[in-house]
Amino acid sequence: MQAEYRQRREQLMSKIGNGIAIFRSAPTAVMHNDVEYAFRQDSDFYYLTGFNEAQAVAVLAPSHPEHRFVLFVQPKDREQEVWSGYRCGVEAAKQVYGADEAYPISELDEKLPQYLESCDRIYYHLGRDRTFNDKILNLWQRLMRTYPKRGTGPIAIEDTGPILHSMRLIKSQSELELMHKAADIAVEAHNHAMEFTQPGRYEYEIQAEIEHIFRLRGANGPAYPSIVASGVNACVLHYIENNRQIQDKELLLIDAGCAYGYYNSDITRTWPVGGKFTPEQKTLYEIVLEAQKQAIAQVQPGNPYKLIHDTAVRVLTEGLVELGILKGEIDKLIEEEKYKPYYMHRTGHWLGLDVHDVGVYQHGEDKPQILQPGQVLTVEPGLYIVPDTKLAEDQPQTDPRWVGIGIRIEDDVLVTATGHEVLTAGVPKEVADLER
Ligand code: GLY
Ligand code: MN
Ligand code: MN
Repeated sequence: MQAEYRQRREQLMSKIGNGIAIFRSAPTAVMHNDVEYAFRQDSDFYYLTGFNEAQAVAVLAPSHPEHRFVLFVQPKDREQEVWSGYRCGVEAAKQVYGADEAYPISELDEKLPQYLESCDRIYYHLGRDRTFNDKILNLWQRLMRTYPKRGTGPIAIEDTGPILHSMRLIKSQSELELMHKAADIAVEAHNHAMEFTQPGRYEYEIQAEIEHIFRLRGANGPAYPSIVASGVNACVLHYIENNRQIQDKELLLIDAGCAYGYYNSDITRTWPVGGKFTPEQKTLYEIVLEAQKQAIAQVQPGNPYKLIHDTAVRVLTEGLVELGILKGEIDKLIEEEKYKPYYMHRTGHWLGLDVHDVGVYQHGEDKPQILQPGQVLTVEPGLYIVPDTKLAEDQPQTDPRWVGIGIRIEDDVLVTATGHEVLTAGVPKEVADLER
């Protein structure tokens, strides 16, 4: 794997000329008092280094004669390590992680300016760590003040995102292996949850079964707070209380995925708690399923990303018109976004080191993002007939028999050279397979 991290650094360095790129490890977060949340490295930092400790800075300096990759890390400290775990330390930062030079993080203020004096541009992403942002900005300001003396130094700061995130958007073989694994574990968890579901159980019991499988199979845990939403709770997109007793004749919507080796899966299925859809549930479900299938069919290299959402919206809108939930001419309803009270989110997102992964969705108003092999995305249309929704004046009052039903179906899809592969195809979604 070290060879791949090195290759990624080389690729990035080949695009920044005489610039210097600086990456900061993720901040640590306090849960309560002196207890911290489990540390999770910043995805950009991890992608370029594989280094998973806090309090670290990575510097990429393509024009430096010797130190093209520099790491600042926490030094070995036996006493500290007894409390908070193993540290790689300065020496191993070179030996294990391939840094040309490494320093204790305490020397950052002294050493970093020396690297920056001769570069012409700083590549840095202004992140959540305000203190570190200030450090970089202050340093830049100082270097600009002394610029006339040297005639060298960074005259601009540029975000690393556009370069690095377009790299992260295309997954390598080793990344895809981890994503397959994350998908397989979540598939197993959803299949188990389906079997375990029955009226009378609590949402959290099903959550526990799912997350048990995540950890049992070696995943770090959920990729995001698992959503286990029965009945009308399914109409709350990010419902995570998961504390209700599920009832017969309701639907159960589960949106849960895991993080495995830093990569994520993200699956949603909706199924009837008691084993049989009511006619209304089934009718709406089949519309969402058709929207998802048609949208997935558009996942082809060369197609614009936007086509996936547009396809889903059209099928959903047509379905709602057929049921009399929406009234009007299809194209006009779509143009005026009249479907939005029932379908208020996008049809998916990039997936990878982050659940809502980096990468742009379009290159400006009229320049679409074109699908390419190696991209991974979710396809997740839904319908939510939310109670008490404010409807447009020209739209009919919703027949109460539809109200309170929430459905989403979500798969993770890889763009391949010839089409696509659904990584999460192992969880059933056909009506016949969900009924018992
Ligand atoms: N669970 C987050 C999402 O589906 O985007
Ligand atoms: Mn998703
Ligand atoms: Mn999801």
